Amino acid sequence: MLFRLIHLPYRKTTSLWLLLGLMSSSLVSQQPQAPSPNDVAMHRFVDDLLRKMTLDEKIGQMSQVAYQEPHTVSHEERIRKEQAGSFLFVTDPAEINRLQHIAVDETRLHIPLLFGFDVVHGFRTIYPVPLAMASSWDPALVEHAQYMAAREASSVGVRWAFAPMVDIARDARWGRIMEGSGEDPFLGSRMAEAQVRGFQGTIGAPDRILACVKHFAGYGAAAGGRDYDQSDISDEQLWNVYFPPFHAAEAAGAATFMAAYMDLNGVPASGNRYLLRDVLRTDWGFQGFVVSDWETVSNLVTHGFASTPADAASRAANAGVDMEMTSSLYRDFLATDVKSGSVPQQTINDAVRSILEAKYKLGLFTNPYATPGLAAKELVSADQRHAARVAAQRSAVLLRNESNILPIKKSMHTLAVIGPLADSKPDTMGSWSLAGKYDDTITVLNGIRAKVGSAVEVRYAKGVEIQRGNASIFDPQFASPPPTLVTADQREKAFKDAIDLVKSSDLTVLVLGELQSMSGERASRATLDLPGEQEKLLEAAEATGKPIVLVLINGRPLDITWASQHIPGILEAWYPGTEGGNAIADLLFGDAVPGGKLPVSWPRSAGQEPLYYAHTLSQIPADRDAMYWDESSAPLYPFGYGLSYASISIRDLKLSSIKLPPAGVIEATVNLHNTSNVDGDQTVELYTHQRAGSASRPVRELKGFERVHVKAGEQRSVTITLHADDLKFWSPATRQTELDPGTFDLWVGDSSAATEHATFTVSP
Ligand code: BGC
Repeated sequence: MLFRLIHLPYRKTTSLWLLLGLMSSSLVSQQPQAPSPNDVAMHRFVDDLLRKMTLDEKIGQMSQVAYQEPHTVSHEERIRKEQAGSFLFVTDPAEINRLQHIAVDETRLHIPLLFGFDVVHGFRTIYPVPLAMASSWDPALVEHAQYMAAREASSVGVRWAFAPMVDIARDARWGRIMEGSGEDPFLGSRMAEAQVRGFQGTIGAPDRILACVKHFAGYGAAAGGRDYDQSDISDEQLWNVYFPPFHAAEAAGAATFMAAYMDLNGVPASGNRYLLRDVLRTDWGFQGFVVSDWETVSNLVTHGFASTPADAASRAANAGVDMEMTSSLYRDFLATDVKSGSVPQQTINDAVRSILEAKYKLGLFTNPYATPGLAAKELVSADQRHAARVAAQRSAVLLRNESNILPIKKSMHTLAVIGPLADSKPDTMGSWSLAGKYDDTITVLNGIRAKVGSAVEVRYAKGVEIQRGNASIFDPQFASPPPTLVTADQREKAFKDAIDLVKSSDLTVLVLGELQSMSGERASRATLDLPGEQEKLLEAAEATGKPIVLVLINGRPLDITWASQHIPGILEAWYPGTEGGNAIADLLFGDAVPGGKLPVSWPRSAGQEPLYYAHTLSQIPADRDAMYWDESSAPLYPFGYGLSYASISIRDLKLSSIKLPPAGVIEATVNLHNTSNVDGDQTVELYTHQRAGSASRPVRELKGFERVHVKAGEQRSVTITLHADDLKFWSPATRQTELDPGTFDLWVGDSSAATEHATFTVSP
């Protein structure tokens, strides 16, 4: 893709990561396990193939070609010469099969290609973005959505998703916060493993695809929230915050990992042997293969790390990058590196073995082709639309509902739907929707019109337009609509028309937020304001005195502090995907009840970032919310927060025991009571705090949760199991994983501000 040719110049100093690695974690080696009969057959098959392969053919398997990038050698020739093991960005099943036939029929060893794509939140049917999916606090839903995405992708022959993105992100300025599950390692781990299960199921089933866990590791800690900027992360934070979702994904059987772009503590992730070998393979026992990120092998030179392209190829391969994405340094230099001895032959064999094994497990050696006709049945099928609609319903978060302004009564006569995102298809889909189609997408305006039919007069006005101001890397493939309000007069008139509609309507739904290109890769921001004139529009609408509901479509928490005091109804819909407009209409009119909870602490302004609830106590804990003299340091909405149309209390916390032995469990039981006349969901969240130990531990940490449905008037008990293992942490004092004995606080409630409290002790 042309946009990929744009580079930012990097100059970084290097440091000896390895030394740090040696000082850090205890590397627990995995117990060898007896191979299953299938593994035995696979090893025999792959060993046999490896014996027949030349060095160049092996390096071909380690090379991935980006389909639409400019190329001097045709793809057909590359495949015939066995110089490509994988392609990315081919989505047409006929073209996939054509290329696959060349690989299988016209090469010496008949090794099939592996086709990969960014199936991040759907393939053709676009699901809510991952930050939204995490807001569902519903791992089963997340698993199902990725299974549905796998069905669509596999129907065209794409058998490898560059997802899940499991980077913890604690700074909303970072555009890629929308691609992950937010700030918390426990929630992030549950979402990571659910996604791996959803994509892969049992690897080899024809409707499943390989997961690629990315970006290993620490990408979310980009300095200042600036995408691609360096991450400087202490060992304590790496092991306790940034690694856990990766480890959970690995433990769930993820077949592949992707190395990150940035320097981690001074060493680029794609040349980082400590990450890719010591942690991933030695410590965690990962058996799959690692792909670089886009050109990150050649970027080892750009980073000021490798001296030459040949050095970059050698450092990446030795560090543990098994396949190179897009750049061609492996193809161009790896053979020379092997001959010169800078890369051991064994390193090549190990890399190729893991790639061939992945292809074998997928079943590509027996059935390499997309099934003709399957895509037509699967893509945007009724089942897909249904799943996407439910996902969007369950991932929206109700932030405010004063005087029960929501749900909207269907008995009204006139409804204004206003805002730059109210009727924008690409912006409803969100980033990583490259195989999605605008025409499939239901905007909020479409959804509301379909919901109310002719019973309510629905009037639409854009009010204002918003623009990013500079190009997005996705513009060439996937642009938001260009502005149509060109002159100042046009803009003034559009603004006035919108406010006139507010004045003459019974109620207004304002749909504000960010264009799809304003969150995502290379979409960092210095402020969290509503872009453009949206705040002005919102305040003018409120000044009419008419009832206003704000729907947010965006990929990160925004500064809505004024709205949180003046706008009675606020629904965070994130980028909700293909069925977003229908789902939002369901929620606005009460045909679905909001139950999502924030997977991030919601700041008042960008100046509070990075902001997260699991901070340590400090010496004046009572001052926690007053750490700035010019603004509160408390979040606007805490992590785990979200309202419902139902009122479901959580009370009467009881523990099964007040002593927790190592490897034991405690059951925490609470009573839920739905005191309203609306059926709804409540998420029961369990937090702990270690009072003293070998290190200071966060004031609260999520250690369990469950989203449950409670009928109107119903009372029911819910039990969350706390595992002693989940209290273990990597102690910076002892530099190993510890379960410190002593007293712990435990809270259960409906957010990280939970008040039901108990204590227990961990004792050997
Ligand atoms: C992104 C990855 C993505 C890859 C292929 C990179 O720029 O960082 O997340 O998988 O491109 O599209």
